[in-house]
Amino acid sequence: MNTYLVTGGAGFVGSHLCDALLARGDRVIGVDNFNDYYDPARKRRNVAAALNHPQFTLVEADIRDDAAIDSIVTTHRPVKIAHLAAMASVSYSVRNPKIYQDVNIHGTLNILDAARRNDCQGVVVASTSSIYGRTDKIPFVETDPTDLPLAPYPASKKACEVLAAAYFNSYGLPSTCVRFFNVYGPRGRPDMTPYMFTDAIANGRPITLYDGGRPRRDWTYVSDIVAGVVAALDADLGYEIINLGRGEPVMMRDFVTIIEELVNHEAQIRPAQLPVSEPVVTFADVSKARQLLSYNPQVSVAEGLARLWEWYQQEVRS
Ligand SMILES: NC(=O)c1ccc[n+]([C@@H]2O[C@H](COP(=O)([O-])OP(=O)(O)OC[C@H]3O[C@@H](n4cnc5c(N)ncnc54)[C@H](O)[C@@H]3O)[C@@H](O)[C@H]2O)c1
Repeated sequence: MNTYLVTGGAGFVGSHLCDALLARGDRVIGVDNFNDYYDPARKRRNVAAALNHPQFTLVEADIRDDAAIDSIVTTHRPVKIAHLAAMASVSYSVRNPKIYQDVNIHGTLNILDAARRNDCQGVVVASTSSIYGRTDKIPFVETDPTDLPLAPYPASKKACEVLAAAYFNSYGLPSTCVRFFNVYGPRGRPDMTPYMFTDAIANGRPITLYDGGRPRRDWTYVSDIVAGVVAALDADLGYEIINLGRGEPVMMRDFVTIIEELVNHEAQIRPAQLPVSEPVVTFADVSKARQLLSYNPQVSVAEGLARLWEWYQQEVRS
């Protein structure tokens, strides 16, 4: 049995990761500040099951708090850290850039520094497909340029990746930066398209569809992402950057059609131009993940959206 620290452990991806580590018999320390970027009651529900597990400890703390993070890592001595806590929205970052510096950059520095001072064996850092910006070169390969981010959020994640590289080179702290591609599923963030579209279509409200629904997104079901993060925690790779996507982008109009069929309602579509902060396509080359992590995404978009709809009906409408 190993002990893992999961920052952002009450969030969408983090709570699923905590559940997966507990299910295989590990001890998990979840850290979260339950901020109100979206309703903290959702985050409480995300960790409700884990809280009944004897090997789960929840610590309410802010990753910006150097002393608190140091004390958590010193007390629990995790073998590795999965660092998922972050401010995570592209569009919110355009309106509120400074908090991305505070939480994502300063917070990540605290985690890396606590890890190296306490002889942690490694850190897995959540990064993002939005780091690739607007490019015609598809699919996205880890070695592609990432120097022209479209918004403060991907810029802050680029800084996280670079800091992790510096901690490997300066102190020998191993880390794997995993670039998530458009994650969705049960407990999905209410500010993200899959939840917003499902909720709007189910309730007869209009949805905003950019550029006639032509943009494509590489939607990746949450259990596939979690499997990739667990594999990254288990691997000893030095410093690596690895895409975690599905590798099969779907046109947004087709994505909406699947939701319409599940919900049995036609979407009211409000057309709009793609904002400059949004890429035209996200498309992961996952060969590196397949090679280094034996990553093999399982859940199709049709199946994943059906599971999201099932969860939505139970959790949100009840
Ligand atoms: N969901 C996606 O499609 C996606 C895509 C790319 C990258 N990511 C990255 O994956 C990670 C998880 O994203 P998510 O979708 O689960 O988001 P989320 O907002 O549901 O989870 C993040 C969690 O971090 C916590 N948190 C935020 N600031 C904190 C702070 N200062 N101290 C402690 N806790 C704090 C939040 O309360 C939240 O519970 C993030 O790093 C995000 O940038 C997500």
